[in-house]
Amino acid sequence: MKPRSVRDADVAGKRVLVRSDLNVPLDDGRVADDMRIRASLPTLRLLLENGAAEVRVCSHLGRPKGGEDRAKYSIAPVRERLLELLHDERVVVLENTRFNPGETKNDPEFARELAEGCELFVNDAFGSAHRAHASTVGVAELLPAYAGLLLEQELERLGRLLDEVERPFVLISGGAKVEDKLGVLRNLGGRADEVLIGGKMAEELRESSPLEFEVVLPPDVVAAAAFEADAETRVVAFDELPAGWLGLDIGPETRAEFAERIRPARTVFWNGPMGVFEWPAFAEGTRAVARAVADVDGYTVVGGADSVRALGEAGLAGSVTWASTGGGASLELLEGKELPGVAAIPEG
Ligand code: 3PG
Repeated sequence: MKPRSVRDADVAGKRVLVRSDLNVPLDDGRVADDMRIRASLPTLRLLLENGAAEVRVCSHLGRPKGGEDRAKYSIAPVRERLLELLHDERVVVLENTRFNPGETKNDPEFARELAEGCELFVNDAFGSAHRAHASTVGVAELLPAYAGLLLEQELERLGRLLDEVERPFVLISGGAKVEDKLGVLRNLGGRADEVLIGGKMAEELRESSPLEFEVVLPPDVVAAAAFEADAETRVVAFDELPAGWLGLDIGPETRAEFAERIRPARTVFWNGPMGVFEWPAFAEGTRAVARAVADVDGYTVVGGADSVRALGEAGLAGSVTWASTGGGASLELLEGKELPGVAAIPEG
């Protein structure tokens, strides 16, 4: 199903409510990474160019619990960054939608409040499309709803992995928990020519795998004496971890083997880091995978905040076909699930 496009909406002179995903990391009250804010701009620009009277942008930010979280999760720094990038007095950025408890409950009262005075709704929040909330689903039931440009692109770029793909197709998965990635592994893994697993989830799969196909697991790891950024480290074979030590990154042999298997790919999907990449001593495995994926001459898609961040930090964000702005949403889409935020938009 293809939702109808904002390109086909008559917005001239209208007040348009836009749901973007501006849920960005903050550091000391400042935007630490503005990728999602920049990704929201093409839709906002299109609406302005097409003569919208007002573009009213809303988003959630973090997971505020109660009133005491209001300062921490205020949308103010995000609003400031967005307006720096897009200076137009017709753009209004509403406060964090999750300050209203009705947001996550898809409360019709809150949806009415958001839709109040607007004539049209554009959902561009791919990263939140797996949430059936008031600002993603509720408002789509009150106003004529359209898909924004980012939402459309994400659906197209990720969706292509669900169709026939050019082979070899290499799937790379990492991160802490198998549970989070199991749906995607089950849905795509059996169709992939190679499934490479790193991160803590590799240990889990080594112990017992619920998968019906072979996966490639790391032959060596960077072991750490403690879960600390400056812990003593040692490269060891996966089965020679000293007692009490932890494997916090894939080792050099694994990096070389993974790179070798990734090189001939014509299609790649990578989600999840190979280790605790936030700490320099354990970042090399994730970086090596980022480089190998960026070097592939084919269709390369990276999803999940950590992998996309690692790619960006290595200066390689522009070297893949698509770096998704969605974490959970990209996984659910690739699991083959319907995304409620998309299903709420009439077909185009
Ligand atoms: C994300 O960062 O994946 C999205 O913005 C969704 O956030 P949530 O998991 O808090 O709903």
